[in-house]
Amino acid sequence: MFEKISVGAASRAKPAAVVVAVFKDKKLDRATGAVDGQIGRAINRGEFSGDPGSVVETFPEKGPGRVIVVGLGERKDFKPAVLRSVAAAVGRRLAGTKDTPVQIAIHHALKSENGGKSALTEAGRAFGEGLGLIGWNYSRFRGSAAKNNNKPGKLSVVSDDSALTAGLRAGLALAESTNIARDLSQTPPNIATTAYIASQARALARQTGMTCRVIQGAELEKERLEGLLNVGKASEHGPCLIRLEYRPSGRRGGSKGRGRSGGAKAAKPVVLVGKTMVYDSGGLSLKINNGMVGMKRDKDGGCAVFGAMHAIATQIKPDVPVVALLSCAENAISDEAYRPDDVLTFRNGVTVEVTNTDAEGRLVLADALCWACDRENPACIIDLATLTGGVVVALGATFAGLWCDDDKLRARLERAMEASGERWWRLPHDSEYRELMRSPIADILNSAPVRQAHPIQGAAFLSYFVKEGIPWAHIDIAGVHATESDKGPFVKGPTGWGVRLLAQMLAEW
Ligand code: BES
Ligand code: ZN
Ligand code: ZN
Repeated sequence: MFEKISVGAASRAKPAAVVVAVFKDKKLDRATGAVDGQIGRAINRGEFSGDPGSVVETFPEKGPGRVIVVGLGERKDFKPAVLRSVAAAVGRRLAGTKDTPVQIAIHHALKSENGGKSALTEAGRAFGEGLGLIGWNYSRFRGSAAKNNNKPGKLSVVSDDSALTAGLRAGLALAESTNIARDLSQTPPNIATTAYIASQARALARQTGMTCRVIQGAELEKERLEGLLNVGKASEHGPCLIRLEYRPSGRRGGSKGRGRSGGAKAAKPVVLVGKTMVYDSGGLSLKINNGMVGMKRDKDGGCAVFGAMHAIATQIKPDVPVVALLSCAENAISDEAYRPDDVLTFRNGVTVEVTNTDAEGRLVLADALCWACDRENPACIIDLATLTGGVVVALGATFAGLWCDDDKLRARLERAMEASGERWWRLPHDSEYRELMRSPIADILNSAPVRQAHPIQGAAFLSYFVKEGIPWAHIDIAGVHATESDKGPFVKGPTGWGVRLLAQMLAEW
């Protein structure tokens, strides 16, 4: 919808529009009322319910050309998360009006509610996220027969409250990183090949001062990355393990006044792992009916990690090193494809009998988990993957599935969930599930013959590749990585789920 959204302090130049907010009780605070004397009457019009995102407009004789009054819902239900949807409603309206610059003056209403500067920054961030997310626009493949050639416009938002402005800036930046993940997810599989993802990672590293290494071809064999080699065997687009590394600069720790700069270089990295299946046909256990459509999005774990690394390197800049590992392959079919009945020996010595080539995600993740454990000396590992259809059945599009038995890591993810609105629900690890994965001829199977607990089977399988004692979280995002219909600040398509959760977690590291 918008080509670019910029943010700045309100200048003396007259804004084209001002956005103010009102709770459902329609009690008007003085500062909001002062923006235009007509607001009091406007909010009592039938069209304005005061529900989150409901909108009414006034057109002052003096001052800005338009005032957009947006509802915040019930006071007692208010939390910053509401502002994501509120901002989305405002963004939709602004895409139609084409007004710019737009002054955001929602802080008057919010001040009456929750005061504090940090609360306003948090509110600004949620609003900025909502505006940036609804602004996502993917028109790369609109061709000469496109229905409308309306070019997305530019939007500049301004505010005269410094805490709100700081929040808006942070929120818009997080949305931009999320939109990078959504762009990558949306890119079709004939373009977004394994080599394309690798080239995007190299470009990201170049632009942001990270380092990038791509392990492919003979090196994959040398490193015994058995899952990638086998899953990727049938495709002309060879598999690779993409490694991005963010290192804190020594000074940053000091500038935050925590005096941790000296230790930052020696610190163990947080390792983020992403399933990056550029296409999942199912392999020889071919997907049936319409099960294949949309499987270009089987790379969304990797896309989320990619977007999070963008946020980390450009905005969050945490004191701790962060390593991203994208396990990238295409699950295709040919006479060279890996097959059900094959037995694979992984880097850590664990042998796997393949029973279903469509349970490929866990095989490529196993490589990255082994690699993380023996090459990265990780502080913790978090993997994101569109791993199972079963998690969609269990939790729908509301929560991702989370497996994490480390209390400290889970607490960090819980705080990040609250701040980002990217929600997960915990599911269990248990020795009984690990036993379920036992194979009669190898150590384990990649899919147990019983139709039970598929998402938990996936997590149990992965647990064979994480060394004891290393804090680890597995997040199955198959239900939340995309939405079927417009929802809050999202339009039908990829959500970039995980970018803001991970960025937020690292912001508080
Ligand atoms: N990529 C799929 C999972 C998936 C399903 C993602 C729907 C997004 C939406 C995964 O590789 C897969 O096929 N999983 C199988 C596992 C089964 C064979 C154990 C599944 O869920 O059916
Ligand atoms: Zn599959
Ligand atoms: Zn898959």
